[in-house]
Amino acid sequence: MLIDAAVLTAPNEPLELRELELAEPHRDEVRVRLLASGICHSDLSFIDGSWPAPLPIVLGHEGFGIVDQVGEGVSAPRLGDHVVLTFAPACGRCRFCLEGRVNLCLLAAKCMDGGFMWDGTTRLSHEGQAVHHLALVSSFATHAVVPAAGAIPVDRRLDPVVGCLLGCGVTTGIMSVTRRAQVRPGESVAVFGCGGVGLSAIVGARLVSAWPIVAIDPVQNKRELALEMGASHTVDPADGDPAAQIRQLIPGGVDHAFEAIGRPAVAATAFAAVRDGGTTVLIGQPAIGVKAAFPVYDVTQFEHTILGSNLGASTPALHVPQLARLVVEGLLDLSPLVTDCFPLAQIDSALRIMTSGRAGRVVLELAAS
Ligand SMILES: NC(=O)c1ccc[n+]([C@@H]2O[C@H](COP(=O)([O-])OP(=O)(O)OC[C@H]3O[C@@H](n4cnc5c(N)ncnc54)[C@H](O)[C@@H]3O)[C@@H](O)[C@H]2O)c1
Ligand SMILES: [Zn+2]
Ligand SMILES: [Zn+2]
Repeated sequence: MLIDAAVLTAPNEPLELRELELAEPHRDEVRVRLLASGICHSDLSFIDGSWPAPLPIVLGHEGFGIVDQVGEGVSAPRLGDHVVLTFAPACGRCRFCLEGRVNLCLLAAKCMDGGFMWDGTTRLSHEGQAVHHLALVSSFATHAVVPAAGAIPVDRRLDPVVGCLLGCGVTTGIMSVTRRAQVRPGESVAVFGCGGVGLSAIVGARLVSAWPIVAIDPVQNKRELALEMGASHTVDPADGDPAAQIRQLIPGGVDHAFEAIGRPAVAATAFAAVRDGGTTVLIGQPAIGVKAAFPVYDVTQFEHTILGSNLGASTPALHVPQLARLVVEGLLDLSPLVTDCFPLAQIDSALRIMTSGRAGRVVLELAAS
């Protein structure tokens, strides 16, 4: 079938709106009519060339839609199911899947590097030339063919505009707190960066009754959004060293600091804000190869933990429906996170707002396209 999609053909070039050919789903694949896609900073990192992408490619990895065709051998999801797409479906066979760390699945990582499906081919093409998939999702489009295991059925009452964010930003932020760092009630938390991921970490900290929850961001409306979403205090880096400001609020330093920007200097500042024996969690991802520095004596002498977080160490097929249930039952309000919505045809405007740093999450509403 023919679909509309936004295609990256070269780094630092505007995405091109094109009609693409989408082949039928192969065995163990499904086709999804997309309703919404979030824009994550990681999409911007492919566009600006910080991370290499196989070109041409359809970006977007926070997709939500309805299954409208199933390939051979698929027992779930079923036709008509509402699904969140994930870039971490379990192959079930690699060492990480066997360990229960499906977010690190080796086959999914290989597909992400190559821009193809499980079998090494693409379902997307333009005038006979292959077009690559981003991380088995490619949600800047009206439809997508994905592995059946990558389309996670969720409660039909879930609003697609917030539901799509469970594909990456929200799950990463919340689960970095609840699962990767295992934050307990009453422990203190600092979150550096109040974009979609950082705000979700704040939501996660609030869910587990962490206190205080300090949000650090140079943009005023982001600090205000952080307060609305559960932060107890905010820090403006323009007022002086954020680590010193946090230590004034919490003598001795915070129990857990989360870096949700992707700046090595901020990772070092986050470390400096943490108490002896505490934990620094790195979520933000700079260009590949960029290094951060930490004082080794302090790490060893005071048993400081530095954790990397990929999708919050989540198992999407298990945790996405759990988070979706919290949303539909009114226990998790993600609506303030979505500050801007655009149709696919206006993806340039959507990306501009996302790059400006003032947005919470920018969402593409695809049904209206
Ligand atoms: N590890 C993972 O699994 C994972 C998943 C999703 C995204 N990411 C990464 O997380 C990072 C954040 O993603 P996002 O979509 O929330 O980005 P975003 O662009 O929406 O938000 C970044 C925020 O950081 C703030 N900021 C910039 N400089 C700052 C500073 N010096 N101090 C404090 N705040 C500062 C900005 O004002 C903005 O609010 C990106 O690097 C992205 O690639 C990682
Ligand atoms: Zn992402
Ligand atoms: Zn695997």
